[in-house]
Amino acid sequence: MSPRKIIIDTDPGQDDAVAILLALASPDEIEVLGITAVAGNVPLPLTAKNARIVCELAGRTDIPVFAGCDAPLARKLVTAEHVHGKTGLDGPNLPDPTMPLQEMHGVDYIIDTLRSAPANSVTLCPLGPLTNIAKAFNDAPDIIEKVQEIVLMGGAYFEVGNITPTAEFNIYVDPEAADIVFKSGVPITVMPLDVTHKALVTQPRNDAFRAIGNTAGIAVAQMTDFFERFDKEKYGSNGAPLHDPCVTAYLIRPDLFTGRHINVEIETGSDLTLGMTVADWWGVTDRPANATFMGDIDADGFFALLTERLARL
Ligand code: RIB
Ligand code: CA
Repeated sequence: MSPRKIIIDTDPGQDDAVAILLALASPDEIEVLGITAVAGNVPLPLTAKNARIVCELAGRTDIPVFAGCDAPLARKLVTAEHVHGKTGLDGPNLPDPTMPLQEMHGVDYIIDTLRSAPANSVTLCPLGPLTNIAKAFNDAPDIIEKVQEIVLMGGAYFEVGNITPTAEFNIYVDPEAADIVFKSGVPITVMPLDVTHKALVTQPRNDAFRAIGNTAGIAVAQMTDFFERFDKEKYGSNGAPLHDPCVTAYLIRPDLFTGRHINVEIETGSDLTLGMTVADWWGVTDRPANATFMGDIDADGFFALLTERLARL
């Protein structure tokens, strides 16, 4: 089977970095057409820089990296340096990138790439706020039919929220963008906190990353060493949740995940619950299903895949 063509839209972010490394280590299953950076965990100049740092860490300076939107569609940017550090990639000491940032705006790259692609042929993998995706759909609605699937990290149902009591960060930062994406009609697969909070980098799993011994494995161990402190303190968990790599792992091994095809709508009106993914997990409404919302993960299988693939870099 030919590899799935994808665009990764990202706000690196240590977990974004691991998701990108997993994709780049899996050329039989995934062809990364390009990476578009979005403002999220840290401001856009840093996410655009970090995306290139990760490509160079994977030895893939051939991957075009674009800067997209530097703020949400209709709100002030909220960032997460408290989780990811001031660089967004705290932990390892990685060199500044030498590969160039592409001139074209990330949203224009998404539009141009989809316009020149056959119908249902490109998968979009958003790992941050959905600003770039929503703006591309708004600016060029004709591209929507070109999207094979959107596989995104965002939202929550049983886990409710991580940036507010009711909202997950990626959705909360740009709820209007999320609303546009979830109403777009594109097939959507969601990796919510309900799944990612079960993908914890325990010490043995982190030791396994470090034991790979290559630059990527050691860097990933140092990244998770850094960003686990926030979640361990907040949730008392025994490791960092590896949110974004669930997206790229799904493209390689969908069998690692289970979920339901349900209706998911986004709160954009209430200040109290802004950015909440109102997921009809129990089917109590007659609202039409618009997303496959994952609820469980084979965590041991996920980490075995991740460790095996990082060792290839
Ligand atoms: O809530 C977790 C998500 O927000 C992850 O994608 C993390 O990288 C941040 O973007
Ligand atoms: Ca992210």
